[in-house]
Amino acid sequence: MSTEKTDFAIIAARHGIDLSMVQPLSLPVRLVELERCLARQDVPYPILPEHAEPYFAAARAGKPFTVGTLSGDTVDVGQYRNAQVYENYTFEEHLSWACLIAEQQRTKHQYACLEYLSGEKTFEIGGTIIPDFYLLNARIFQQTSWQLATVNMIIPAELFFTCHSHRFFPVTTFMRALEQDYLAEPDIGHDVAGHVATFTIPVVAHVMQNHGLARNLIYDEQDARLAKANSDAERNKIQQKADELLLYAERIYWFTVEFGLVMQQGSVRAFGAGILSSPGETLYSVNSSKPTRLLIDPSLDTDLLRLATTDYLISEYQKTYFVTERFELLDSLTPERIVATAKLASKLPHFSWRDIAPGDQVLNVGESAISTNEKYLRLMSNQICDDCLTRAAIRNLRLIDHGIDPSIDLQKVWRGPIAQVPEAIVEWFKREDEAHKFLQITKPLHFETANDGPVS
Ligand SMILES: [Fe+2]
Repeated sequence: MSTEKTDFAIIAARHGIDLSMVQPLSLPVRLVELERCLARQDVPYPILPEHAEPYFAAARAGKPFTVGTLSGDTVDVGQYRNAQVYENYTFEEHLSWACLIAEQQRTKHQYACLEYLSGEKTFEIGGTIIPDFYLLNARIFQQTSWQLATVNMIIPAELFFTCHSHRFFPVTTFMRALEQDYLAEPDIGHDVAGHVATFTIPVVAHVMQNHGLARNLIYDEQDARLAKANSDAERNKIQQKADELLLYAERIYWFTVEFGLVMQQGSVRAFGAGILSSPGETLYSVNSSKPTRLLIDPSLDTDLLRLATTDYLISEYQKTYFVTERFELLDSLTPERIVATAKLASKLPHFSWRDIAPGDQVLNVGESAISTNEKYLRLMSNQICDDCLTRAAIRNLRLIDHGIDPSIDLQKVWRGPIAQVPEAIVEWFKREDEAHKFLQITKPLHFETANDGPVS
């Protein structure tokens, strides 16, 4: 046995995998399975023959998968377009998939919510070889009417949510290195093994598509305002505002679809794809004393706003998780509500991912939790510990200095009254900011005030 094969055997054994099961299927074998799948009528969304026939012909001709064509609708991901060339996956990549799935299964079976586990059975995501997207896309469509579009990297949020508005989910095609647990960038282990089962949870699919429709509302309004704009400066401002609103809408998606926890049968369970694609974070998010867990009712405006006003980093495990009281409450996330919340968030001070605020329904206080004013004190004393605190502190102090919209009652927008920032801190910040001390750290954000005209 060669050295490489010996190494693979050791790694496979470490994850309880029979190396002989890591056998990619040939095209003829995959085609037999695909033909059988496309013919199924006992599914929620049977595939029409006019879509099934050219789809199968493309697969049979060996055309790489790029975007699902089973609904008559499509999306164009432009420069981010990619293709799954199935035969190009190496044995090592298939083994990496097998190892990740084996580890995911161990943690998911303990900590994922029941709906997620049943979704995984529907799509047969497990196994020891990377899924063929022709087959996977057909199965997803038949069960949920969602489809896949392959992309080559993280795509801009505006395009990501455009895809969602058409029920297309952008997926990468590459597989992480052997035994890598957490990735800031998505791969198939995240996009497929993490996300796909969540499409079967109706409320999660609903939240996903509604973020796409919220994106449409934000950019339709942008276009209407652009049509009346008289200068480049005004056009710039309008575009920045739309991007900013989408950023706050994206936070709601982040803390639910990506990193959401839910109470189930008296226990905390995970449904976020970002959590469940990382075996390490699955354990950490549910079982560790390190992160903060806050209980939320997303049907309450105060709680939805808490999500939209909470900043985070993607480079490491989360510091705060939001635990939805019951799945059904996510049904309240309409596109209109998401946009209204993002608009209000754009006028308010924000929280860092370590903050615990008065009124938060705290399930447990994480080891790195801080009070809302501590980030300002840390900024003053040069003891900032991460970029999220820096961003939130500078943004808030600029906003306060600029003047928060007086028509907003800050004591009522969240569940509890947020401590006022001491005047001395605001004065100190003003002096430092005028001396351009923070320009390298974060670029200034544009804040609208009553003088800028209504945002809505
Ligand atoms: Fe994701």
